Amino acid sequence: MEENSEIIVALDTNSPDEAVALVERLMPDITMYKVGMELFYSCGAGIIDRLAALGAKIFLDLKLHDIPVTVGRAMAALARPGVDILDVHASGGSRMMKEGLAAVRGAAQARGVRPPKVIAVTLLTSIDREVFSREIAPGCDCNLVEHVVRMARLAKESGLDGVVTSAFEVSAIREACGRDFITVVPGVRPAWAADAHDQRRCMTPRQAVLAGADYLVVGRPITRARSPRDAAARLLDEVREARRDARG
Ligand code: C5P
Repeated sequence: MEENSEIIVALDTNSPDEAVALVERLMPDITMYKVGMELFYSCGAGIIDRLAALGAKIFLDLKLHDIPVTVGRAMAALARPGVDILDVHASGGSRMMKEGLAAVRGAAQARGVRPPKVIAVTLLTSIDREVFSREIAPGCDCNLVEHVVRMARLAKESGLDGVVTSAFEVSAIREACGRDFITVVPGVRPAWAADAHDQRRCMTPRQAVLAGADYLVVGRPITRARSPRDAAARLLDEVREARRDARG
């Protein structure tokens, strides 16, 4: 894939009307939106249809993790028009990922829609080095970055399209998995954002693009801005300039 960093705006609200109003304000400058657990579990699948009717592409961020057959059936139900990206936890293992992917492709074909990309969460970015070695992998001699890269490789070997990851691990993942393996990166804060909120390890959009990120997930710097449209336009300018510089 070419350097093609796009911004995905996170619709972190439990109100479908608020989500729709925000998308109406940001379209067509921003075309991709993240629907996470809060919005999806508050409103159900109808929110996907409402957003899709506005022309929005959706990253449905439900981070599935269960036995392979259950994940497969759930993913088949989620592969509906408008959904462009779905995700699962890589720690569910290769069988789970393969079964999820096959189910998505089968369901999309049956519905006559383009199959969504399926990506994997390598390790939640809320897990830092200390928690990783104390709680997740005690006794393991690998470090956190090695673990993230191993999970990314497993996702790639299982046929997945990419990973959700911190910007700090993007270059190691690209080196291990190649340029076509997409990286979706949250924890992005423009230098002009007044507040990092609860994000700890942030990069600016420019830094994330130069590190090789394909998609940047940005929530509050846009959604809580006085003018979400102006904030989105400023971010897009920054991303376009960084993309030009990355191409040299
Ligand atoms: O408002 P903010 O830009 O911090 O929103 C980032 C979005 O990305 C939120 O929906 C958050 O749940 C999500 N996310 C994250 N870190 C991850 C995975 C997802 O911030 N590792």
